[in-house]
Amino acid sequence: MRKTVEPAARLRGTIIPPADKSIAQRSALFALLSTETSRITNYPMAEDPRTALACIRRLGAVVEDDGDTIQITGTGRDGMLAPRVPVDCGNSGTVMRLLAGILAGAGIPATLTGDASLSRRPMKRIMDPLTRMGAEIRSADGGLPPLEIRRDGPLKPFRFRLPVASAQLKSCVLLAGLFGEEATQVLEPVASRNHTETMLGLPVVRQQGANVISSSRQHPIPPQNLQIPGDFSAAAFWLVAGSIVPDSEIVMPATGVNPTRSAALDILRRMGADIVDEVEDQAGNEPVALLRVRSAPLKPTLIHPDEIPNAIDELPVLCVAMAFADGVSRITGAEELRYKESDRLEAIRQVLVAGGVRVEGHRDGLTIYGEPGRKIHGAHHDSRHDHRIAMAAAILSLMGEHASEIDNAEAASVSYPEFWSHLDSLAHR
Ligand code: S3P
Repeated sequence: MRKTVEPAARLRGTIIPPADKSIAQRSALFALLSTETSRITNYPMAEDPRTALACIRRLGAVVEDDGDTIQITGTGRDGMLAPRVPVDCGNSGTVMRLLAGILAGAGIPATLTGDASLSRRPMKRIMDPLTRMGAEIRSADGGLPPLEIRRDGPLKPFRFRLPVASAQLKSCVLLAGLFGEEATQVLEPVASRNHTETMLGLPVVRQQGANVISSSRQHPIPPQNLQIPGDFSAAAFWLVAGSIVPDSEIVMPATGVNPTRSAALDILRRMGADIVDEVEDQAGNEPVALLRVRSAPLKPTLIHPDEIPNAIDELPVLCVAMAFADGVSRITGAEELRYKESDRLEAIRQVLVAGGVRVEGHRDGLTIYGEPGRKIHGAHHDSRHDHRIAMAAAILSLMGEHASEIDNAEAASVSYPEFWSHLDSLAHR
């Protein structure tokens, strides 16, 4: 699908961001592991969360999907069915990596496959620790999916220091650990999103500057009864759009603002963005706020390596904000962006360059030469089938001199199916 994005004179209105993809996928996978029935409201229609439901059905969960509220009756740790055909994880790295941990821990033989993008993403990072825990994982192509998982011997207790700040890797190992008689411990020197530990109630202690999170068979698995908050990573597109397009004001109620996810708020604010957050509630253990953004002049900034994990999915759109700052901004320590649904460092660099922005690419980041109020060239972009690149290119295009075109724009539906209609409802031409 090709989308044409016209320049916007202003953006105004209230929108409800889609429900959080990371939390939704976890709620489905964890509900599989509970023997009690889970009730989850505001479960999203986006593709990745739907993939999670299809996968848990294949393993024996009963999912009653009543539109907004879904009811999941899990199999518990010991009742999972071995799937007879490969389990398709679609576009979702979270589903593949978390499910690999569950299957390896449970000792359920299975093959996990994914789409073309997922089939290019590195899985060696999960294969190594799961192998050390006693599983056998075969990869078709030196660490790329499909993955064949089995475990014949016992599950070994394991203490694992994360070599890369990744919530998917952390969660994979902790989920496998839920099946072990003795505790598995994951040491996390730099905190990544903490949804797995909060939703499962896993113990976390601080040791020598790192979080140490433990799991074992002794840990009860609660049913997932929650209302999923709005996705901060989706809201971030409008936080940037509302900042850079003049005369704008956008309000987003019920948005998740978990601090391990929302470093983009701090980054945008230190750039001068006018963002107000009014705390609304807690959805489960997740803080939720109403966010209001108004246009503001932006200053350049430096994003440090330590900030990257808590802003990882917002970096492409933060690059768009930097293009309008009054000076040179720099991102460092972000090599992980190369291993997402596309090589996002290269993809966003090309989007910015096509729009006429001066950018220098580095192995682990970008240098972006901003100009306040600049007009972006009307350009032809390709999402590379990456949802966040499609949406970041659209936000940049709102500041165009002329219309821009975005190919493979349907990729937005992976996390945000309503993105294009929200854009139409906010934009005044
Ligand atoms: C996610 C973790 C992050 C993030 C991804 C979702 C999760 O990936 O980029 O979109 O749900 O745990 P990594 O764990 O690879 O950093």
